[in-house]
Amino acid sequence: MEAFKTIEKILGEIDAEAPQDLAQLETYRIRYLGTKNIIKPLFAEMRSVPNDQKKAYGLALNKLKTKAEDKFQILKGQLQDQADQSASSARDLSLPAGIQNKGSRHPISIVMDRMIDIFDKIGFVVAEEREIEDDWHNFTAMNTPADHPARDMQDTFYLKNSTTELLRTHTSSVQARVMMTQQPPIRIIAPGRVYRNETISARSHCQFHQIEGLYVDEHVSFADMKQTLLYFAREMYGPKTNIRLRPSYFPFTEPSAEMDVWLGTDTETTKKLTKGTGWLEVLGCGMVDPNVLTNCNIDPEKYTGFAFGIGIERSAMQKYGISDIRLLFENDVRFLRQFSTVI
Ligand code: DAH
Repeated sequence: MEAFKTIEKILGEIDAEAPQDLAQLETYRIRYLGTKNIIKPLFAEMRSVPNDQKKAYGLALNKLKTKAEDKFQILKGQLQDQADQSASSARDLSLPAGIQNKGSRHPISIVMDRMIDIFDKIGFVVAEEREIEDDWHNFTAMNTPADHPARDMQDTFYLKNSTTELLRTHTSSVQARVMMTQQPPIRIIAPGRVYRNETISARSHCQFHQIEGLYVDEHVSFADMKQTLLYFAREMYGPKTNIRLRPSYFPFTEPSAEMDVWLGTDTETTKKLTKGTGWLEVLGCGMVDPNVLTNCNIDPEKYTGFAFGIGIERSAMQKYGISDIRLLFENDVRFLRQFSTVI
């Protein structure tokens, strides 16, 4: 009978099949087990098989189908193992590791740490204090009493329902905290974050960073201050850096000055940062006002001192060519990642 012969023929073919890899096994699967496999039509032949042979035909057909399936399962296991092994032996363990995604320090931290290092070398120690301050340490002790017009110089964030608790507007509050607990000689720097209620733009923000400096001892002079600040500028901006001190006003220093550093107008960024003048305003400074010393229980007849407050953001922007201050606070990883090689 023709149908029996076809079964025999396909059984022989299955025996002869020897796929060498998973791709060849797939060809096998399609031929014998796929939706249009060659065994399927033999089931339809059942109708033309004489009744007395139907049982034998059915058994032979099932045997064929089972054989095709069993062989597939066995080959699948073997060929899969073989593929796994060759994949692992293809891994070359002597190759250098792939590029690792290193973290990065924030440009503000990089610049602050650099400044702290510079002052550390000449004996200034770091003093850290609270960001939520009271009126007295932030203003009154710093010779800015309640009705003083200079309070308007800085727009202050007061805490809800409080007229005395505020977010410090400058790190100068640390001066008062330190002098209240320590007698001279005092030589500190106070790095930290400060807050002002200012409209956010490319040039100003409602939060930023400062480093405060304070040196109080016997016979501290304006010349000491100038020399210290020149040393700082040359360490920070290069050995040939020029500075200028412009007379200024701060309630807590007398006389007061602002220090500019010459950056020039060669690049778009320096032009922007210096408003076209070439001079970057870096810090405010001056001789500590005797009233401040008195407020903090230090004898102004015996001691003198100088103080300064450095704005960090502008230095960071100048150093890295950042022309919009807002980038420093958005924490966009595409921006931050650029500093991973700086560390
Ligand atoms: N506190 C001032 C500000 O935030 C900066 C400053 C100026 C600090 C002069 C000082 C100083 O210590 O002597 O604008």
